[in-house]
Amino acid sequence: MNKIIKKEYFSEKVVKLVVEAPLIARSRKAGHFVIVRVGAKGERIPLTIASADKDKGTITLVVQAVGKSSSKLCALNEGDYITDVVGPLGQATHIEKVGTVVCCGGGVGVAPLLPIVEAFKKAGNRVITVLAARTKELIILEEQMKTNSDEVIIMTDDGSYGQKGLVTQGVEDVIKREKIDLCVTIGPAIMMKFVSLLTKKYNIPTVASLNTIMVDGTGMCGACRITVGGKTKFVCVDGPEFDAHQVDFDEMMMRLSSYKDME
Ligand code: FES
Repeated sequence: MNKIIKKEYFSEKVVKLVVEAPLIARSRKAGHFVIVRVGAKGERIPLTIASADKDKGTITLVVQAVGKSSSKLCALNEGDYITDVVGPLGQATHIEKVGTVVCCGGGVGVAPLLPIVEAFKKAGNRVITVLAARTKELIILEEQMKTNSDEVIIMTDDGSYGQKGLVTQGVEDVIKREKIDLCVTIGPAIMMKFVSLLTKKYNIPTVASLNTIMVDGTGMCGACRITVGGKTKFVCVDGPEFDAHQVDFDEMMMRLSSYKDME
């Protein structure tokens, strides 16, 4: 049982939970995720660890209420317990000094992007972060990103905050302005597909985190099967991060939509 120490609303449906998990806090690295279950018969929810505090023994999770299980998790309050938190799981992000890194996140994908931004900055890179959402209210973690980035660019679909336009526009403006050595993208599959097409055009190595497709997170359910460079991969075991230019995003989107009715 893991206690919720702090709960904060980023928007009506996006919640930040600081959860007691000392062993995970000690060993997690950027890119790792945990599996969370609410109730003994609860569905398993894979969630990327947004940040961790080794001294306090806590991890931070950002959850968007999408279906039944994520709504149940978001409804828990400070002092409540999460039945299980298992992890850290997955392969950690490969972090090194490459020069200038553009990190772009859309919607709730901004949460798993935060530890990656922090880690690339710590490794001595120039980090430019592009945050995108439909409206101002859905932009999350802006302050934390500012603390860890050399520059933060905000894009909103409706122009209610930052610049009006899609994430790809923000990224392309940066590409046209300066040399970019690496791009990291996390968000809806359609967003990652178009970021990947854009950076391919400019020959910029790009990493995409495909955590949204995971279900049980253990390599057993097969739901996270994707094709990367013509080979079958499991996001929860081989990922969640892959060379974006090799990912078959159309297949991934088809797979994601097959669970819509049940959700
Ligand atoms: Fe089930 Fe990967 S999430 S096999």
